[in-house]
Amino acid sequence: MSAPTMTLHYNPASPYVRKVVILLHETGQFDRVQLQPTVLTPVNPSTELNHDNPAGKLPALRLADGNVIHDSRVILDYLDHQHVGNPLIPREGSARWRRLTLASLADALLDAALLIRYETALRPKELHWPLWLDNQQGKIERTLSYFDQEAITELSAPPFDVAAISVAAALGYLDFRQPDLNWRNSYPRLANWYFEVNQRPSMRATQPSA
Ligand code: BEZ
Repeated sequence: MSAPTMTLHYNPASPYVRKVVILLHETGQFDRVQLQPTVLTPVNPSTELNHDNPAGKLPALRLADGNVIHDSRVILDYLDHQHVGNPLIPREGSARWRRLTLASLADALLDAALLIRYETALRPKELHWPLWLDNQQGKIERTLSYFDQEAITELSAPPFDVAAISVAAALGYLDFRQPDLNWRNSYPRLANWYFEVNQRPSMRATQPSA
């Protein structure tokens, strides 16, 4: 095992970071990266992270030559070009755009879940905006329904690629931050798929924690 050559700004609660670490495991590259613990909220930013990513967003990956790349989608693409196995982001053709679109939809679910998390965990209760929260939750429900009704066959087809990794990380974050949502009752096909993929070593090694 050689010494890590890259440094990843890391927080075990971040689902965007988790996508990157899952891909590192899936492609046999985990040992190439040193994890730099990075604690932040939108009202308590990280000076070190701001230095590497002016937007102050996780994840950011510092390469061996000192260059930094972000956000998670760019990092996934970069890392998928650094291993010799089959690509986890199709390089061309309609499969590329379809898999990236499913991944983007999973990220949109995450964006909504994170906004809800910030609103409910950080904002004073008297300032919560129920209509806004309901509309964020609506995005989550519509997206879960789409994955369950329209995309489950595609998600189930191997390999466990950028689309599947992104959806799995999104579902993991829902379980972590919205444990009472009970999404499995409404979306049983998605629940079965998630039960299977959640057994993967890459998923077990990256369970979210505060
Ligand atoms: C969270 O605690 O939910 C969280 C922390 C860092 C980044 C994203 C989410």
